[in-house]
Amino acid sequence: MSATSTATADQLFEQAQHVLAAGVSAGMRINPYLGKPLFIEHGEGAYLYDVDGRRLIDFNMSNGAALLGHDHPAVKQAVQHGVELGIICAAETPFHEQLAARMVEIIPAAERVRFSSVGTEATVVALRVARAATGRSKYLKFDGHFHGLSEHWLFKSADPFDPASPVVPSSGGVPPHWGDDIIMIPWNDAEAFETVMREHGDELAAVICEPIHYNAGCIPPAPGFLELLRERTQDHGVVLIFDEVLSGFRTNAGGVSATYGVTPDLTTHAKALANGLPLSSTSGRADLMAHLAPTGTAVHSGTYSGHLLSVLAALATLEILTQPGIYDELNARADRFYGQMQEIFDRNGIPVTIQGKGARFGMYFGPTEPITTWTDAFDHDHVTNQAFVQQCNERGVAFHGYTKAGPPGHAGFSLAHTDADLDEALNVFDTVAGNLAAGRT
Ligand SMILES: Cc1ncc(COP(=O)(O)O)c(C=O)c1O
Repeated sequence: MSATSTATADQLFEQAQHVLAAGVSAGMRINPYLGKPLFIEHGEGAYLYDVDGRRLIDFNMSNGAALLGHDHPAVKQAVQHGVELGIICAAETPFHEQLAARMVEIIPAAERVRFSSVGTEATVVALRVARAATGRSKYLKFDGHFHGLSEHWLFKSADPFDPASPVVPSSGGVPPHWGDDIIMIPWNDAEAFETVMREHGDELAAVICEPIHYNAGCIPPAPGFLELLRERTQDHGVVLIFDEVLSGFRTNAGGVSATYGVTPDLTTHAKALANGLPLSSTSGRADLMAHLAPTGTAVHSGTYSGHLLSVLAALATLEILTQPGIYDELNARADRFYGQMQEIFDRNGIPVTIQGKGARFGMYFGPTEPITTWTDAFDHDHVTNQAFVQQCNERGVAFHGYTKAGPPGHAGFSLAHTDADLDEALNVFDTVAGNLAAGRT
């Protein structure tokens, strides 16, 4: 098999389309830039090995879940321990208490913790707690911020460039009336936020955000914006929720909340929490979390919630992420790597803004100014991005394309990426940027 052949994967995809809906187990697995999914044989450290025997340096890392790298020995050992204990689920064990105690130490907002399986459950539970606590039903969400695939979140502005445009479903099958409770404004728009809080603050149960908007690449909060969210929600008795499903552990063990020194009332985690095992958490102020049944009325349970294999994996993951110096090293490497990427594109004359914080970053082809809003990111040039992703893929560097419309998705590296891996990838970027500059798309 040649290093670039995808014959086995192509055949698998053809077969899969006869038995899996659209040939995949999850819609996003089809990389829109490649027109097909990657078919992976196994993962190891910074690498994916596909069914055609190709080694790919991975810059998706399981949509951000594998922050320590694939097949991390400590995580693997923890999972094996769980297998030996009998693959228990739907039961409390001493490890659940240990993990919650660790999270209470690390995560500024976390006084009490509840575990679920996936990020969507954690955000829905957070909203339910906020509604139970306030007796209100409306909530504010920022346009383009992603909080999972439940009806609560599948809404967007009909026209993101028109602040007066209505909120409409972003998916088929979502009844528009679910949007009646949503007020939507642009991220980083302090004036719009002040107006909404003045006019509707007392009607809102919650304000929810991705405190760094990684689902549009990487759009950090404008200076003072998180502080403003904190102040005004307090003024109006609104529950502030930081959805750190993606941003958690990316810049700091305590998340964006710890990095910026702003503590929400509730926060959600998943992805990197258990380094590739399904585990999510809703955590926050003890008085709010007391609204969960059976102390309160807001239901939350789940056969697989806090699955033991995942809980053990999370304990092993946090053990590593809380070692001294880990984040100093990670953030320094991140800044260096993003700077080197930017330099390569600049030298080759490809207009792009590389914007990253900690272990995750966005590549905005086209714009050359910092991206501070969701609408800035709409100018993104998907044609060049697609050519970049395709040519990187052919040369053994994997990026996931999330969409071919609007802002780009996110990319990231792991603690398993060595300097040699990053240098190898940078060499590929240089070759591909040269090709793009020469019109070889
Ligand atoms: C910020 C954020 N919240 C929630 C979710 C939903 O998580 P899951 O896919 O585990 O349901 C995601 C997933 O990408 C996310 O990025």
